[in-house]
Amino acid sequence: MANSRSGDSMTDRIVRVLETFTAERTMQTATEIAQRAELPASTAHRIIGDLITAGLLERDEDRRVRLGMRLWELALRGSRALRLRQAALPHMERVQSVIREHTQLAVLEHEEALFVERLSHLQAGANITRIAGRLPLNASSSGLVLLAHADPAVRERVLSAPLPAVSPETVTDAVTLRALLTAIRRRGYVIAPGSIESVSTGVAVPVRDRGEVIAALSVVLPRGAATEPAINALLAAARGIEQDLSALR
Ligand code: PHB
Repeated sequence: MANSRSGDSMTDRIVRVLETFTAERTMQTATEIAQRAELPASTAHRIIGDLITAGLLERDEDRRVRLGMRLWELALRGSRALRLRQAALPHMERVQSVIREHTQLAVLEHEEALFVERLSHLQAGANITRIAGRLPLNASSSGLVLLAHADPAVRERVLSAPLPAVSPETVTDAVTLRALLTAIRRRGYVIAPGSIESVSTGVAVPVRDRGEVIAALSVVLPRGAATEPAINALLAAARGIEQDLSALR
């Protein structure tokens, strides 16, 4: 069993416990949490017990632990994501009803694309994004839009670090990526075929608030599908979201 890192505060330990949960790993035993958080079992069990009492974690009949509803409730209150989702949802529904494929909304968070909303269609194709899931900025269409409009310092940091390949077609060469980002800023959208999975094409546009890009709106199309209707629907939706965001100020 790994020892806890020395000098960390109680807040650090609580955050480490909470961060062991991911979009894919939503249920864990207390022992698994202790190992993944690199905390001694007794410390982890005490923190988990306190968080369960506070409602921030919940335990099921099999004694497996998950994030609590109370945490969701607190996290949503007044968060940037809530205001954005509220403004975006009616417009995302319109895109979805016209294009009939997955429609999603992502924000830049710690140099990754964090998906805050996703609407799906029963007949829609493959899609690996999850609400509250993340993807590297160079991979998804949303990530490319967010990176194209990111603060230049963030963009340079991402471009100078190794760029992960999610599929064989993900752009991982910094020179090619830089040129693509310039084209995205000029054109106002991106078409990203195969950058996540060979069977799909992501199409994304920026969403602005007071002139600043705060999110990316995208659809995932089956590879080879016409992209123009999706681009037009996304651009109209982004304009609608921008208007509604100014009303929600
Ligand atoms: C994309 O936005 O490029 C994207 C996202 C999820 C997928 C495929 C493509 O499954």
